[in-house]
Amino acid sequence: MTPSTGPDGPPGSAAGSAAWELLLPAASAPARARGRALQESLRDAVRSGRLTPGTRLPSSRDLAADLKVSRGLVTEAYEQLTAEGYLRSGQGAGTWVGDAVRAARPRPRDLAPRSPADRVDFVPGTPDLSLFPRSAWAAAQRGVLADLPHESLGYPDPRGLPGLRTALAELLARRRGVVADPERIMVVSGVAQATSLLASVLHARGTRTAGVEDPGSPQHHALYAAAGLDAVPLPLDDEGLATGPLYASDVRLVVTTPAHQFPTGIAYSARRRAELLDWARSVDGLVLEDDYDGDFRYDRAPVGALQGLDPERVAYTGSVSKSLAPGLRLGWLLVPDWLADAVVERKRTTDLGHPTLDQAVFARFVERGDYDRRLRVCQRAYRERRDALVAALAEHFPGSRVTGVAAGLHAIATLPERFGPEEGFLARVTEADVAVRPLTAYAHGGAAGGPAGEGPVTAREVRLVLGYAHLTPGRIREGVARMARAV
Ligand SMILES: Cc1ncc(COP(=O)(O)O)c(C=O)c1O
Repeated sequence: MTPSTGPDGPPGSAAGSAAWELLLPAASAPARARGRALQESLRDAVRSGRLTPGTRLPSSRDLAADLKVSRGLVTEAYEQLTAEGYLRSGQGAGTWVGDAVRAARPRPRDLAPRSPADRVDFVPGTPDLSLFPRSAWAAAQRGVLADLPHESLGYPDPRGLPGLRTALAELLARRRGVVADPERIMVVSGVAQATSLLASVLHARGTRTAGVEDPGSPQHHALYAAAGLDAVPLPLDDEGLATGPLYASDVRLVVTTPAHQFPTGIAYSARRRAELLDWARSVDGLVLEDDYDGDFRYDRAPVGALQGLDPERVAYTGSVSKSLAPGLRLGWLLVPDWLADAVVERKRTTDLGHPTLDQAVFARFVERGDYDRRLRVCQRAYRERRDALVAALAEHFPGSRVTGVAAGLHAIATLPERFGPEEGFLARVTEADVAVRPLTAYAHGGAAGGPAGEGPVTAREVRLVLGYAHLTPGRIREGVARMARAV
């Protein structure tokens, strides 16, 4: 049978009997899957252009006879694809390929950052996505879909599901020393959204500047700028954000990473934490604590969250981007009471709340101990990778110092002068298909790279920010060896 062109549609070329032959495999699919397979094959034929707009389809009776399937299956397929817009039915009998479907639609560009397969990319801040606990996550998803009452699929509380806020309160208090009343917690789509919400609420109240650590996260800078705040770079010393320049600035909001400063990797000293809080009280200001990788601590007991010391002067944020996967877009924000209503309202007007199913799945994942288990597994794997990096650097770049290694997913390597200057080093390493970022790339105000707790930097020293958590020990050794050969 040959498809023909419809009487009232644009002339479509006849597709030839091959168009129906391509439905034959679907027709011989197991009975349970046959209907769906038939629909999928027809859809593919239209999408790929094998059935062109205006082509008339055989009657359901004829096609069913040709394919030796029940007529109901074909009728159902025609109805479904008509509802989807791939087909249209005429006034009397007859079904045609719809006009609106354009064959070979261009694929959308994928703007997500990716590295070529052979490149060893020491990008910082990426967890090992192959360790994502797929089966535990799937079990949590199944459980949630079976148990979640229908009412829960309505618009959620903009602060998040009560069950998840309770689970997070317990988790953050236990693991990070956060003062975490469930009433205080908001579920957000990551540190990025937490920062944006807070910045835009403070902007609406007249704030125009925000302090950022220098060197620091380009994200913080960009998110503040997007909310209309000028980011003011503030230098670090060996203990954390330097207090002199902080007092000398006119900022009253500052974003910090005290557990494992990004990117230098230093942990703020106890004294500096107290000084930071003194500053916040003295200027009636606020510290935003970005606890982005505070869960990973290898050699010492974890440093508790700054927020636990003064929850009215510190807003606390974190996410699963380093512990599970950034693609989940799931995080939390705790703000002082005096900001809570405004931030919740901003979240509500931004997106009417975080997706319910994702929240419920994560709540179950935390409640059942899966999250703690996952952190334990990663902690072990990442410690081994960190050790592999330190050993490989010692072997191939003797005399180098590695700092910021007590926690997190990246370290700072300071290579001896003979490998500098930085520009030449980076050019040669790039040619060897290894991607590394110098510490200077994270400087906001032109600082020469900031401290790493190991003395002054000299002009010819090369300081690298090396992410290791997403690379196996073998890839780490290979990357460092390639770098050494290149220079
Ligand atoms: C300093 C810092 N904080 C937080 C994040 C994570 O942001 P999010 O939770 O929105 O994924 C990143 C991501 O790269 C980061 O560099």
